[in-house]
Amino acid sequence: MKTVRGCVTILTDNVVPGRSELIGEHGFSAYIETGKGNFIFDTGKGKTVVHNALALQKDLAVINKIIISHGHGDHTGGLPEVLRIQGKKKIDVYAHPHIFLYKYRLKNDKETYGGIPFTRGYLEKMGARFVFNEEYIEIEDGIFLTGEVPRKTPFEGGDMSDRLARLDDGKVIADIIQDDQSMAIHTEKGLMIVLGCAHAGIINTIDYIIKKSGVDQIYCIVGGTHIGFSGEVQLSESIRALKSYNIQHLVPSHCTGLAAITRIKQEFEDIFQFSHVGWSIAF
Ligand SMILES: [Fe+2]
Ligand SMILES: [Fe+2]
Repeated sequence: MKTVRGCVTILTDNVVPGRSELIGEHGFSAYIETGKGNFIFDTGKGKTVVHNALALQKDLAVINKIIISHGHGDHTGGLPEVLRIQGKKKIDVYAHPHIFLYKYRLKNDKETYGGIPFTRGYLEKMGARFVFNEEYIEIEDGIFLTGEVPRKTPFEGGDMSDRLARLDDGKVIADIIQDDQSMAIHTEKGLMIVLGCAHAGIINTIDYIIKKSGVDQIYCIVGGTHIGFSGEVQLSESIRALKSYNIQHLVPSHCTGLAAITRIKQEFEDIFQFSHVGWSIAF
């Protein structure tokens, strides 16, 4: 198996360390440096990614690929900023085709749009070259995207109840966020897994990556997990299931929620790390 060396740094997260120039926002983005090139995984909501990249000396002009975990605006909002930095250069943007669904939530008859805030045409004009994937794919030697993650565990329903999507023909469907995908890098230390929101469920995601890769050593899992907002059963069952894996570093970020992050810290004292803008790990 080919392994990759490199480093993951969080550019956008809900939390920033004290006394720093970094800015937080509700969103997620990670800068990934490897011997196979540099990548950006998600782009936050749009107001922090460039500022934080400059402050952290992560050069957005030398990225080879952009990866989008799913269509929500807190992961796609910074796309134009990142594309603008590429100048005239076209750049591959890996994503599931459903990132362009009209995603919204309906509460008390009030509609809140939560999807990608730009059209495909606009982003293509800015230099995006979309590479759509639904399957598990290798984007460079040893670097994989999950594509659609099979939803298998009985306890990972997510907080989907009021998430809707309007199709081009006007039909409204429940949005199970089929587009949700994660990244898996094969390293000498095991799998480096980067999640966007893990709407498919963190356990479903880990199980799928282990099945597809044949590797069950997990060096690090970092990213949003959404488990603080998916009910007590999903949170406690996910914690129980997480204990069955061989994980060296567990870094729940972004949409995990502070209460759930605190709980995970208590349950996984040895392997837990607090996520924040500027957090970094080498592999
Ligand atoms: Fe999110
Ligand atoms: Fe999301």
